[in-house]
Amino acid sequence: MTYQALHASDLAIPDGFILGAATAAYQIEGAASEDGRGPSIWDTFSHTAGTTAGGATGDVAADHYHHVTADLDLMAALHLDVYRFSISWSRVIPDGEGAVNPAGLAFYSDLIDGLLERGISPVVTLNHWDLPQTLEDKYGGWRGRETAYAFERYAELVGAALGDRVAIWSTHNEPWNNSFAGYGHGVFAPGITRHEDALKAAHHLNLAHGLAVSALRKTITKPDAKVSIVLNIFRVEPETPADEEAARRFDAVANRVFTGPVLEGAYPADLLEDTRHFTDWAFVLPGDEAICHQPIDLLGVNYYEVMHIRARNDFNPALEQAGGTEFPGSERVELFRPDGFARTAMGWTVEPRGLEDHLVALSAQYPDLPIMVMENGAAFEDEVTEVGGLPAVMDPDRTQFLIDHVTATLRARERGARIDGYLVWSLLDNFEWAAGYGPRFGIIRVDYDTLRRTPKLSAHWFAELCQTRNVPALEAKVIV
Ligand code: NOJ
Repeated sequence: MTYQALHASDLAIPDGFILGAATAAYQIEGAASEDGRGPSIWDTFSHTAGTTAGGATGDVAADHYHHVTADLDLMAALHLDVYRFSISWSRVIPDGEGAVNPAGLAFYSDLIDGLLERGISPVVTLNHWDLPQTLEDKYGGWRGRETAYAFERYAELVGAALGDRVAIWSTHNEPWNNSFAGYGHGVFAPGITRHEDALKAAHHLNLAHGLAVSALRKTITKPDAKVSIVLNIFRVEPETPADEEAARRFDAVANRVFTGPVLEGAYPADLLEDTRHFTDWAFVLPGDEAICHQPIDLLGVNYYEVMHIRARNDFNPALEQAGGTEFPGSERVELFRPDGFARTAMGWTVEPRGLEDHLVALSAQYPDLPIMVMENGAAFEDEVTEVGGLPAVMDPDRTQFLIDHVTATLRARERGARIDGYLVWSLLDNFEWAAGYGPRFGIIRVDYDTLRRTPKLSAHWFAELCQTRNVPALEAKVIV
């Protein structure tokens, strides 16, 4: 079987540059109520009618919990430098703040040992959105300040248990989705539709980040371990100069609401002003911003597409909504996808140039902070064929996407950006949140009936990338 020649790059992977693959607990693990795991807000949400495509839940997902050894062997075959995964808080502390579940902790400890035995370094996220349900019920989840202190304790505990072996820690993954999609737009767990609640959640996530950084610093013992946060800082591009004010607004509510307190020690004045009619921000107590602003070693960035922005000219203040829209002030700002770009199965535009420019600009903005691309990848419709009697997935679109985005990352580095690594989203096909099991982001296919894993063409390409440390071309590639 031959395939179109995919365009390669002449760039080599620099020494020390980190390559890996990423996942998240609720999206792959399954075993939702096994071995003492408590429910999370994503269990409750996905089991609520009408919340996810086809009523999908993470009950089984890719069943990674029961396939962990086979999955580790696949990672070894990919020659990954690192594997990024998240810990399910409610597997380790079922009610979020009470007793520890030893079986839950053991699962992650064994996973880490399995990685190290295969020469792969663990990169651990503490919060990839699956908050213990008990904390939602008791404190209103991230709306409650108490949740930030429960997170501090959780960080301290896992830091003490796993901090002798983890290479990179991240407090949160994409707090934007956690707060704005979860508490303002309501399309993600816990499904609340109030912008003030989204802003409260954002603040308590920032506070929790600062508390957790200090807790990790106290407990981790691996000398060169790094502490980070993973933000999906958006690449914001106004269509015309007349749209710059709309872009500023979006940048404030989507990006600087996190980078302000976490990286610079204060909420931006324009954000407070823009959102004054949604909240008085009284939930930010004196001293909070200093807590949020802890030194970190690395900034994780997730990139999928450029956010193209224009002003909405029909804005009517009387129609501005207090919730249920994408973000506070959505009525003034239009996010649009221009023609002329290829699209993924999510409908997202394919713009590697956006990643290159984004990394260069971010690194210039935070010159002291190394950056790592913690997620990049694409969903495409995969077709299962057969080669030599075995299932095979030829995914030239995804493979070309990865070639172009790895190349963009390396070019940004050549232009002076401090970029430490690139991780592909995702190792495995998985539960894509409200979109269920339709979109497939994996470089390894998961058959959800048999749970069989099949490395796609993109996985073979990624393995070659990791092994040869060159960005390989793929001509006439045959997979057996
Ligand atoms: C970012 C999120 O961190 C991850 O959970 C999600 O699956 C991917 N984007 C793709 O949407």
